[in-house]
Order: sequence, then C-alpha cells, then structure tokens
Amino acid sequence: MKDSAIAGSVDKTSSSSGVEPIKPPSLNSGGSGSHGLAKRVMKMGVLFVGFTVFWILLYNSASPFGFPVISHYLTAAMPAATKLGEKNDQKLDSVLRNASMANKTVIITTLNDAWAEPGSIFDLFLQSFQIGKKTKELLKHLVVVTWDQKAYDRCTTLHPHCYLLETNDNFTSEAFFMTPHYLKMMWKRIKFLGSVLEMGYSFVFTDTDIMWLRNPFGRFHKDADFQIACDNFRGNPKDMKNMPNGGFTYVKSNDRTIWFYQFWYNSRTLYPKLHDQDVLNKIKWNPFISNMKLQIRFLDTAYFGGFCQPSKNLDLVCTMHANCCVGLENKINDLKILLDDWKKYKALPNQHQNTTTTTTTNSPPHWTVPQRCSTSFERARIKE
Ligand SMILES: *[C@@H]1O[C@H](CO)[C@@H](O)[C@H](O)[C@H]1NC(C)=O
Ligand SMILES: *[C@@H]1O[C@H](CO)[C@@H](O)[C@H](O)[C@H]1NC(C)=O
Ligand SMILES: *[C@@H]1O[C@H](CO)[C@@H](O)[C@H](O)[C@H]1NC(C)=O
Ligand SMILES: *[C@@H]1O[C@H](CO)[C@@H](O)[C@H](O)[C@H]1NC(C)=O
Repeated sequence: MKDSAIAGSVDKTSSSSGVEPIKPPSLNSGGSGSHGLAKRVMKMGVLFVGFTVFWILLYNSASPFGFPVISHYLTAAMPAATKLGEKNDQKLDSVLRNASMANKTVIITTLNDAWAEPGSIFDLFLQSFQIGKKTKELLKHLVVVTWDQKAYDRCTTLHPHCYLLETNDNFTSEAFFMTPHYLKMMWKRIKFLGSVLEMGYSFVFTDTDIMWLRNPFGRFHKDADFQIACDNFRGNPKDMKNMPNGGFTYVKSNDRTIWFYQFWYNSRTLYPKLHDQDVLNKIKWNPFISNMKLQIRFLDTAYFGGFCQPSKNLDLVCTMHANCCVGLENKINDLKILLDDWKKYKALPNQHQNTTTTTTTNSPPHWTVPQRCSTSFERARIKE
C-alpha cells in the first residue's frame, strides 16, 4: 500500500470484444471440476449464513459503512455470474502464448505513459533484469500491458511482448494515490489479471517500480495458490494479519484462483472507497476463502522487500519495491540509488553468498535507500 504506482488493465466488458453471454454460475476453468465446484459453492451457501454472522460480528468494526448486508456478500461470492472477460481477445492470447514459459506461466506488469517515458520507471525496471542475477532470461516471459498508445509505442521499441489494453478511460498521466482515477485503474488491473487466469495462464504480477535483482521462482511457496508480497511481514507466511501489497503476486491458474479473482473484483462494490489491496485486507478473513481451500501465502520481505520494509540481506534479496513512496520523481530518484547500491554489491570482490560469510572488516553491504521516498508522504501533504 501507500504506493502511487500505476498499473492496470482494461475491461472490455461489452463494448469492444465479443460479448459473452451470461452463463449460470459455474466456473469455466478449462478443466475438470466445474460441476464439483458448483456443488461446493451450493454447499457453501448453506454454511454461509452462519459463518457470515460470526464473521460480521468479528470484523464489522473494520468496515467504514457498518457492514454490507449478507446478500451482498453472497452476490460477490457467486462465481462466474459475471465472467471477467478478455476471453475472446486473439491479440492477448497471442501475446501471452509468445511470452509463456512451458508451463503457461508469464510475468506481467502494467504501464502508462508517465512511467514509460525515457529515463522513467520502465527503463529502471528493465535495467534491473539486466543487472540482476539470473533475471535476464526472465525478460522473454515478461508481458508489458500498457494503458495507452504512447506507452505501447515506447514499449515496442524496447521489448518484444507488449499489449495495449483497450480502455475508454484516459490513464495517460500520473495517477495520484487513492484518487478515484487511481482506484479505477487498480480495479481494472484486478479484472484483467482475473481474465488471464481464466485463459489458463499463471502469472507473477509485478508493479513496474519493483526491481528484479534475483530470480524469485525458487523462493515461492510450492503449495500455494495465491502468494502476495507484504509491506510489513510478521514472520509467518500463513498469518492473515500480514499487510499485503498488491504490487507483487504469484498466482497459479486453477478453479480456486479464478473464483477468488471474481470474488475480489465483485467485492469492490461493497467498499467503494477502498482500493483492491484494502479490500483484499477485508475479504482475506472471509470464511468463503477457507471453504474454497484457497491457499494464500504472504511473501517474506527478506526476499521480496520494499522501502516499507527493506530486504536487509543483499545476499538474499530477490525484489525491491518503491512502496511507501508517493511521487514519480521521488521513486525515480530512490530507485536509481537502489540500483547503484546493487551494482556496488555485485562489484564486491568477495561477494557474499550467504549470511554466514560476513566480512569482518567492513559492515555487510546494505541499502542507502529510501531517501526522498521516506519523507514523500509528508511533503505531498504540505503541497496540498
Ligand atoms: C507471436 O510470435 C509469432 C512468431 O514469432 C509472431 O508472428 C507474432 O506476431 C507474435 N504475436 C504477437 C502478438 O506478438
Ligand atoms: C489524456 O490526458 C492527458 C493528460 O491529462 C492529455 O494530454 C491527453 O490528451 C489525454 N488523451 C486523450 C485521448 O484524451
Ligand atoms: C513454471 O516454471 C517455473 C520455472 O521453471 C517454475 O518455477 C514454476 O513453479 C512453474 N509454475 C507452475 C505453475 O508450475
Ligand atoms: C554459507 O557459507 C558457508 C561458508 O562459506 C558454507 O559452508 C555454507 O554451506 C553456506 N551455506 C549456504 C546455504 O549456502
């Protein structure tokens, strides 16, 4: 959270691509289990009322408007009443196929013009893959989803897998944190990612202001459906009290995650003032999720760090996010310093391979960031 990131996706609801006929609730997941799933959902419906009452009693205090009525939750949780769309998009299909790993996994980021400008975030993002360890080869699996034509054009000059989201909104300029404009983009992103899951692709979603310094795939939890980075990690990956950051997720495509993205997206109407991440923070407690046996894991900031809680050990860090930072200039400034820190680390003659091999003479290599980001919220408030 606390992130002025721009990222996104598009909804193609009824306007552009082929109109999907509305189907009765059943998951279209390209596999077995649709029927079993429908049954499970019905069973859950029965259990639901009891659970919900309990849940509302427990967590109602967190809701800004008292609590939404039970039928709203039921509506949000009914899968596939509204498919997230994008299904008939040939271009997207082709882009995903070209970028995919053998096991239908892609890396996705979203980009608008402000972040795509030369010298801006996108350049730093791509550079991180070049100077990271075993990250360069991941570039061929990276799909850059752009919000506007200008970002798309810039993308195609630098990268083979670019996709222009069709959108009626103008997402060209910098979206300021928590404005209605920002919220809209964030929700379009969730919708888009849900439709990627529906197409059978698993993905690592990464904000563009996340620097990839090591290949993260070895650090993911093997048994999880949905894994998400944290602003602050409390020490246990299963602890629902962890504060997730939607800027970095690894999601495997299956019945449970397809349902979950629909549930998440539909839940936006229950909390109109909140963005996807805060809504996730509410619905993560929902008994539906444990009933669906969706395996959620929170990623350790030791590997997936950020300015909120940096990865302390440069021998372990995989990614670093310019979170807890508002303002494009602040982010660019500090991310450049971060990459310089990384280059210095990489140039060390006696590079640390693990925590035990600390040099005795010097202090172990460390970040010199955040700098401008650490005061960016205060300064933004003064400006207003
Ligand atoms: C995918 O790759 C094929 C073969 O290299 C190419 O002809 C096609 O244009 C690519 N599709 C997209 C959308 O980039
Ligand atoms: C979108 O907004 C930007 C800046 O606010 C403006 O310069 C641009 O012309 C707009 N584009 C369209 C298609 O409306
Ligand atoms: C896909 O392949 C990558 C790279 O080999 C691996 O790390 C990842 O776990 C695989 N994903 C799935 C969903 O099996
Ligand atoms: C860490 O370094 C020590 C000393 O070089 C080595 O014995 C040990 O195997 C290393 N551990 C790991 C996990 O790489």
